[in-house]
Amino acid sequence: MLVENVSDNLHALPTHRSASAPAREIADGIGNEGEMPAVLHMLTPFGSPLSFFEEIGQTICGNGHSFTGGELSIHSAYPENEEYNKAMLAAHGEERFQQILSVERHNTVIYPSLSLKCNLQTIRVFRPVSVDRTILETWTFRLRGAPEEMLKRSLLYNQTVFSPASVAGHDDNEAFCRMQQGLKNNGLDWVSLHRHMGVETRNEDGTISAPGTSDIAYRHEYEAWMSYMKDEVE
Ligand SMILES: [Fe+2]
Repeated sequence: MLVENVSDNLHALPTHRSASAPAREIADGIGNEGEMPAVLHMLTPFGSPLSFFEEIGQTICGNGHSFTGGELSIHSAYPENEEYNKAMLAAHGEERFQQILSVERHNTVIYPSLSLKCNLQTIRVFRPVSVDRTILETWTFRLRGAPEEMLKRSLLYNQTVFSPASVAGHDDNEAFCRMQQGLKNNGLDWVSLHRHMGVETRNEDGTISAPGTSDIAYRHEYEAWMSYMKDEVE
């Protein structure tokens, strides 16, 4: 459930409204984007319209691995760090610099137990303990040669969105809790994962892309799980 949540672009708008709506209100009061505290840049995009979350897109890569975003993400509107850009330019040259910064992934899933948030140098590790218990670790990385501000931004995001004491993470935990209660109910045998089924594009590199709120990543994960159970993974 926690791993599926990483690919879930549909839930952000309704589930995190209690964080994004007050953040939007405060941001509008400040008016000037340049004067906004970083935490508001992090929380306001959760209130973006559904069309934005569709546009983000997602791509499955085989064996359950996938990523959301690519050219657009919930982090796209963060203010640029000039010092970081200068250091990247000096280290890699203009062409490679543009190439690296043109990749704008939202989340990447290394199935079944890792999630990368490249924009924030963060890795989450999912460690299953039992059928209804999982330990979630969040690791923050310091980029060698990058300004200290990048590390502070990453730590702030973890405190604001991922940590149990955050203003967004507990929304997800409440949802997981209710889903577990719902799944104990005998009313339905099946959980539907058919959203945007058949709305897919095959890419030249063998990956398959779909609209951002598609259930494609979950379907792909269950297919991979079945392969693992049958020992078919190459
Ligand atoms: Fe969430």
